[in-house]
Amino acid sequence: MALDQATKLSLCRQAADVRKFAYAPYSKYPVGAALLTSTGKIFTGVNVENISYPNGVCAERTAVFKAVSEGEKVFTAVAVVTPNGGTPCGACRQVLAEFSQDMVVLIGSPKGELIRETTLEALLPESFDPGKFQLE
Ligand code: THU
Repeated sequence: MALDQATKLSLCRQAADVRKFAYAPYSKYPVGAALLTSTGKIFTGVNVENISYPNGVCAERTAVFKAVSEGEKVFTAVAVVTPNGGTPCGACRQVLAEFSQDMVVLIGSPKGELIRETTLEALLPESFDPGKFQLE
């Protein structure tokens, strides 16, 4: 799936739109994500917090788990929208790298504008990923 400008903007818009479903009563920091797969499908996700705080999950991982649950494991790009331009946390970078080290990371504004473009490689250099792992 080609990552043209229209697709980037569509991902940012979907990440911004889905943010309304974030369940973030504790942090009050709603996050939305939109993950593009190699087959052109888009899976959205939001952060889902819990009163037992460590059991919450980030928006990016929600999107990854939705995609993998539906048979999609190759990712081209992810757009993330937070209240203030935040980038994916370390745990989410690692989970993304499990499936696709070579992906674009788009940071969108709450209005759905593209405010920054980077890569997973830049955010998680020298990742420990399945390609580096040798059994026996
Ligand atoms: N959060 C995400 O959903 N994605 C990120 O990349 C950073 C943090 C969530 C976790 C928690 O629900 C809230 O934002 C505050 O940390």
